[in-house]
Amino acid sequence: MAAYNFTDHRFDVVVVGAGGSGLRAALGCAAAGLRTACISKVFPTRSHTVAAQGGISASLGNMGQDDWRWHMYDTVKGSDWLGDQDAIEYLVRNAPDAVYELEHWGVPFSRTPEGKIYQRAFGGMTRNYGEAPIQRTCAAADRTGHAMLHTMYGQALSKSVEFFIEFFALDLIMDEGVCRGVTAWKLDDGSLHRFAAQTVVLATGGYGRAYFSCTSAHTCTGDGGGMALRAGLALQDMEFVQFHPTGIYGAGCLITEGARGEGGYLTNSEGERFMERYAPSVKDLAPRDMVSRAMTIEIREGRGVGPNKDHIFLHLDHLDPKVLHERLPGISETAKIFAGVDVTKEPIPVLPTVHYNMGGIPTNYHGQVVTLAGDDPDAVIPGLMAVGEAACVSVHGSNRLGSNSLIDLVVFGRAVGLHCGETLKAGASQPELKADWTEAHLDRFDRLRHASGTIPTAALRLEMQRAAQEDAAVFRTGETLKSGVQRLAAVHAKRADLKVEDRGLIWNTDLMETLEFENLIGQAIVTVEGALNRQESRGAHAREDFAERDDKAWMKHTLTWFDDASGKVRIDYRPVHSYTMTNDVAYIPPKARVY
Ligand code: FUM
Repeated sequence: MAAYNFTDHRFDVVVVGAGGSGLRAALGCAAAGLRTACISKVFPTRSHTVAAQGGISASLGNMGQDDWRWHMYDTVKGSDWLGDQDAIEYLVRNAPDAVYELEHWGVPFSRTPEGKIYQRAFGGMTRNYGEAPIQRTCAAADRTGHAMLHTMYGQALSKSVEFFIEFFALDLIMDEGVCRGVTAWKLDDGSLHRFAAQTVVLATGGYGRAYFSCTSAHTCTGDGGGMALRAGLALQDMEFVQFHPTGIYGAGCLITEGARGEGGYLTNSEGERFMERYAPSVKDLAPRDMVSRAMTIEIREGRGVGPNKDHIFLHLDHLDPKVLHERLPGISETAKIFAGVDVTKEPIPVLPTVHYNMGGIPTNYHGQVVTLAGDDPDAVIPGLMAVGEAACVSVHGSNRLGSNSLIDLVVFGRAVGLHCGETLKAGASQPELKADWTEAHLDRFDRLRHASGTIPTAALRLEMQRAAQEDAAVFRTGETLKSGVQRLAAVHAKRADLKVEDRGLIWNTDLMETLEFENLIGQAIVTVEGALNRQESRGAHAREDFAERDDKAWMKHTLTWFDDASGKVRIDYRPVHSYTMTNDVAYIPPKARVY
């Protein structure tokens, strides 16, 4: 075994990740009297939630009548009937209280003239079961995630959450199927740590960086998903990767859907507002999967804009500059910096860009990680919870509606705190951590630290990103996906020839990026294998060779396990929860998804 010493810690709860879901979970656990640690590889207010722009959905009804049942209907329909309806009911019923809680903590929401929280229109959010777009997305200008993250960090500090900042989580400490804690590497002094806990909560975000062009921060490397796969756990519905319609062409930076919510629209090279053809009732406010497909079709059919006819225009130049200044200041600046565009005068060049992972670590609506065990599709993994984009609860199914992510973070982060408060006893005894539970962690860490092959991590990562981008795109076919499987298998095999230059332990970004790449590659592989396996089109998974949704064969969640030694993927399924949480609302049966 490699010669490293661990510093040991013991907590009731250890939350890995300090974005919106991690902070909300951690502060809830601490408020329940549990000694709670929050481990983060970046300073908490640099977590990717800070980049969330347009807003957080909740049926407050500040801009006209609204109802949580309408929100539920939209979310089920948006998910293309792959969402679990009990979890969706939990989400939308608890959404208004979660937003008011944020307001009371000090989130500086934009206001209506009467002083209520301002709400804007977002894709797929409708009034009266699909009748017309509704303003349901609560906004703090176009910096909603920024405002939430800073507010919740303050709240977490006030509840005495103990932060371990710039600690990189390595692996889950597992004991015969029970999670006992997590190991971590302290980046600024090179020391290694074991955190024992009654419950570990993975709140590590998505794995957008498996792709070449994404709106995700460089830190979005799916570290929790990577740890779960290495612990022999399954990930769920990984084939569903969301492309946001309006990433800036060439740069990938996000231009919020709130821009269309405020009246922006897309045009092709003929100056046509083409979304009117694809979604006659909601037009530019159709769900993201539909808008991204429509844009891709326009470009493919020769109606893209620019010298190479390879992108689309987003117009805000008809809007009142006062609205742009008050409601969309952030994207006005982003468009200037990254596209050289003055949004009051010119359209922004945009292209669908990877934005969100619907798939992740399967959980129930308390946040407990679940798996298929024998006949039980909802078997709980003791000691392990997951929340936020790292998790698949599954409220988004095969396609998430914009602004349903921020609400997912706080509603299910709160659920984790409530569940831990109800089920854990502060200071309850825990087994001593055994050395053999963490030997493999050290061996892997040491092997990568001393990797002495010929291929730099950055080169292999780029090969992975290009394969994912080209072969598992907005539209997929069996042929592209088979190519993706082969290309990623080749990347996986080349890991044996990796070269890590820096052998140090302090601020070793070479090693850290290698560990992040390790987390990404497994998830990239299960993404394309899951996509090849699913022979239908649903939500963000658009197979040109299986163009229809097939509820009879495929209304089920994909589970994928990855064996790192062989590179092999195993696939099985869990049923979609086709029932609601209470009798207050009826199950919404599948139908055609027309907007
Ligand atoms: O477009 C946006 O502002 C992104 C929001 C979201 O992904 O929920």
